[in-house]
Amino acid sequence: MINGRIEDEKINQIREAVDIVDLIGEYVQLKKQGRNYFGLCPFHGENSPSFSVSTEKQIFHCFGCGAGGNIFTFLMDIEGYSFVESAKVLAEKGNVPLDVEINKDSKRSNMPAGAQQMVEAHDLLRKFYHHLLVNTKEGQDALEYLLKRGFTEETIEKFQIGYSLDSWDFVSKFLLKRGFPAEYMEQAGLIIYREKDESYFDRFRNRVMFPIMDHQGNTIAFSGRAMGDDEPKYLNSPETPIFNKSKTLYNFHHARPHIRKKEQAVIFEGFADCISAVGAGVENAVATMGTALTDQHIQLLKRNTDQILICYDSDSAGLNAANRAVNMLQDHEFSVKVALMPDNMDPDDYIKEFGEKALFLK
Ligand code: UTP
Ligand code: MN
Repeated sequence: MINGRIEDEKINQIREAVDIVDLIGEYVQLKKQGRNYFGLCPFHGENSPSFSVSTEKQIFHCFGCGAGGNIFTFLMDIEGYSFVESAKVLAEKGNVPLDVEINKDSKRSNMPAGAQQMVEAHDLLRKFYHHLLVNTKEGQDALEYLLKRGFTEETIEKFQIGYSLDSWDFVSKFLLKRGFPAEYMEQAGLIIYREKDESYFDRFRNRVMFPIMDHQGNTIAFSGRAMGDDEPKYLNSPETPIFNKSKTLYNFHHARPHIRKKEQAVIFEGFADCISAVGAGVENAVATMGTALTDQHIQLLKRNTDQILICYDSDSAGLNAANRAVNMLQDHEFSVKVALMPDNMDPDDYIKEFGEKALFLK
């Protein structure tokens, strides 16, 4: 296998090894009807099933929205994978040996050099920070802080929350020792150059770390929350070759299939609110990254739903932002609702005060 090309014979083997009904059954509840299976379409959201899967032909087709294809294109559409990534996942499912290197640079061909190493470093640090939080003495205070705030073990796991050590150079050394080029790590916002002694120091120190994922689930940035009154409250990665705030929605990679199924996205201003909402069962929740809603966010949402629920803080800044978002969304022909929080509460406070069920009773 050379650089992203898989032989036809391998593709046929994978096709034979994985049954489309089993694969799609992991995402959609399917019922047998005659020779085919039917369910609610995961791509457009509907109340009566027009999504069909044929065992015989090993294809799916939606009579409602026209989506259709085979096992490979199903994964590409639902997970946002490339063809090679789909093949890799399917080969594993079907126990077909497949030796592919996923070349992230080819997937990110419009990305500058080093993007792959930047993403790798972020993924590695995400695991490391998470380990520190959940398994070590150094992370104990941070863990207690989170639990006291109402985060659960489950949300800490799901959102891969972590802790960065109270050290000026642990991460710098950790990355450089592993061969990540300093120049790229600096561009990625993980380390900062110190002229005085021509060395590097860590951007994130002694903070609760929230990894930020792209729409495929790669870690591309961090936001670190101070546990005390340190400023800023949230320290974020800067804009980098792999992280663009105006294109990124927090939790989008988890929320996307739920947004499609529920035919609605719920937007929060802060990711603490978003995490709290997901914990309360609002799985179609996303959050902006400390910026106002942009046209790029709106286009991303539009590809998945026409209905938005805005759930911002009830202070005047939150109300202004909600107003602006409503106007922008209506210009793009969304149907928009706004959930108003009482008296200066943010959605996270509201869920804590009134319990999970109070938010978005239907
Ligand atoms: P908020 O100040 O409303 O924080 O900022 P929050 O979500 O209630 O967080 P907690 O509950 O105090 O922990 C909302 C969003 O604004 C951005 C972050 O993205 C945050 O999620 N923000 C806020 C920053 O980037 N930096 C800051 O210092 C503060
Ligand atoms: Mn809050």
